[in-house]
Formats: sequence, structure tokens, C-alpha cells
Amino acid sequence: MLVRLLYVSRPVGPVTTTMTSLILEKSKSYNKKENITGILCQGSGLWMQILEGERSQVNVLYSRIMADRNHQNVELLSLEEITQRRFGEWSMALVYLSKDDPLVKMAHPEFDPYSASAKDAIAILDELIKTGSPIVTMET
Ligand SMILES: Cc1cc2nc3c(=O)[nH]c(=O)nc-3n(C[C@H](O)[C@H](O)[C@H](O)COP(=O)(O)O)c2cc1C
Repeated sequence: MLVRLLYVSRPVGPVTTTMTSLILEKSKSYNKKENITGILCQGSGLWMQILEGERSQVNVLYSRIMADRNHQNVELLSLEEITQRRFGEWSMALVYLSKDDPLVKMAHPEFDPYSASAKDAIAILDELIKTGSPIVTMET
């Protein structure tokens, strides 16, 4: 059974390039092995990530990620059963989120993923991907 999980969290301290590279490297090997795909969105003091895959694999990875001390306030926004992957071509892709991005501002002036509906959060991620991002992609 395929699922899509979306969570939001707050990085502890500044997000360095090294930290991001490490996460992407991990994703490249681990997610590929576990057949997990998705995107990681970072910026404006937030991380938002979508994980897609078999339910049990997604649960295992999510538990690992939750235990990671590089972030806090890890909050599950949604877990839905899906028939098709939306981000099937990437074991992980990185996109940047800026709350000052005119696109985000215009469509979602008060955007705060901790209070937004998962639908709005996913809509933002979709828009970010369509408009030039992602920056880095780790192909499956
Ligand atoms: C925001 C964030 C997203 C992450 N995403 C993934 C991921 O998609 N896949 C993965 O294997 N690790 C991911 N990690 C890393 C894991 O939390 C964890 O550090 C890693 O799986 C530990 O692997 P190790 O025990 O082999 O060192 C992420 C970490 C953070 C902070």
C-alpha cells in the first residue's frame, strides 16, 4: 500500500550546506534502497518534507527522521494513501522556500505550515517545483 507523508519541522541552529548535503546523500542511498521518493523543502526557518513509498517503509524512515537532533517540533501534517507517486523520479529533491517569494506571498499571504492545511502546504510545494526549483535532485 502506497502512502504519501508530509511533515514540517524547525532546524536546530543554522542549516549549513554540509548538513543539507549529508541529508541528500543519506536519502540517495537509503531512500533508493527502500524505494522511497519525495522532496525536501527548506528555508525561512523550516523544513517540509514529503515521503512517498510503501507504508511500512515510510513509517520506518519517518521514525528515523523524527529522532534526528538536527531539527525539532517535527509535526505530521498528513498521511494519505495514494495510487500514484507525485515525486516518483526523485529519491529526494531539494527546493528552497522563501516566505518572501512573491509567489508564496501572493497565493498564501499568511503561510505558516504549522497552522496551514496539508492541502495548502502541498499546493505550495507543487508551485515551487513548477517555478524553476528544485535545486538539487537525487534521481532514483
Ligand atoms: C529534515 C531532514 C530530512 C531527512 N530526510 C532523510 C531522508 O529522506 N532519508 C534518509 O535516509 N535520511 C534522512 N534524514 C537523515 C535522518 O534523519 C538520519 O540522520 C539518518 O537516516 C541516519 O542515518 P545513519 O543512522 O545511517 O547515520 C533527514 C534528516 C533531516 C533533518
